[in-house]
Amino acid sequence: MPPIDLRSDTVTHPTPEMRRAMAEAEVGDDVFGDDPTVTALEARAAEITGMQAGLFVASGTMGNLVSLIAHVPRGGEVIAEAESHTLMDEQAGHAVIVGASARGIPARPDGTMDPALVHAAFRDPLDIHEPQTALVVLENTHAHSMGQPLTPAYTAEIAAIAHGHGVPLHIDGARLFNAAIALGVSAAQLVAPADSATFCLSKGLACPVGSVVVGSAGFVARARRARKLVGGGMRQVGILAAAGLVALRDGPAGMIERLAEDHVNARRLAEALAAMPGIADLDPARATTNFVVFRVVAANPGSAAASLRPRALRGRFLEALRAEGVLMVEYPHDTIRAVTHYGVDADDIERVIAACRSALAACGAASVPATPVA
Ligand SMILES: Cc1ncc(COP(=O)(O)O)c(C=O)c1O
Repeated sequence: MPPIDLRSDTVTHPTPEMRRAMAEAEVGDDVFGDDPTVTALEARAAEITGMQAGLFVASGTMGNLVSLIAHVPRGGEVIAEAESHTLMDEQAGHAVIVGASARGIPARPDGTMDPALVHAAFRDPLDIHEPQTALVVLENTHAHSMGQPLTPAYTAEIAAIAHGHGVPLHIDGARLFNAAIALGVSAAQLVAPADSATFCLSKGLACPVGSVVVGSAGFVARARRARKLVGGGMRQVGILAAAGLVALRDGPAGMIERLAEDHVNARRLAEALAAMPGIADLDPARATTNFVVFRVVAANPGSAAASLRPRALRGRFLEALRAEGVLMVEYPHDTIRAVTHYGVDADDIERVIAACRSALAACGAASVPATPVA
């Protein structure tokens, strides 16, 4: 039996409907603007987000990078959450390729940055010592806060600060549709206050490859040039865009509505885990999208596991879990992450819960007290 893989929602496989659409896709040379399937996907992405235009890119990382190139001049500065994917997990593309410095603002438990800190992070445009603030970035959902969705009201508040300083707002919406489903709002409402956004097709929406950048026609034209610069001009890429068109269909024919199942599964998993001795720092009420993040600790201070470093205990738990046929992944600050997604159903989650119970015992986190030496 294949493992139940909760390392990420990027492990999803395309649906049978996507494979059919990919096989039959009409294609052309997209660098010449000749691929009708890509053009249709870009138009659909613009429509569903309420933006003027869209651009198909290879990945979320490429989407953020071309957005930064399009918005930020060399020597400009980007304000973003300190542990955001854009600043932490994209090979410092903002510095290496864009030539920008960054100001990281800590996240609050709900994934937001304090607006007062965002305001204070802007540089003085009249001080010749300082770089010029050129962009604010939000991440929705916010990964490191266990996938918290950021509301339209909060986004509007940050947009007002950015625009008040004459600076655009970009949203890294790798999991934008998870946020929309969790909050019961449209993706268009979530990005309306922003100047640009990216969203990933290859995560919870289950496409094999790709993200889409959306924004004004002028912004997308600049992002398209930037995509060519970073080697992302693709040719008969309608083969891939076809899967995206399936994902973005309305209703049960698409892949957006079903994200609600992943959220229910994440909540069920979080509730069961939080009740287990050996699991710490997990408030199940915070499982609002498809992320579950927790720590493994020795439940009994007298046990052998209590003498292990947190990292070592975490490693033992993950190994024991793998032996039970369940995969999760290490996450920052000695935590573990499980992500629910297409292909993992409610029965699988019950298997995962049983496997976690066994793994906690096997790694010693939930062991009985050590026998005292006489
Ligand atoms: C919040 C966030 N932004 C951007 C990305 C980058 O996406 P990709 O892996 O397609 O480059 C990820 C990937 O996990 C992510 O979690």
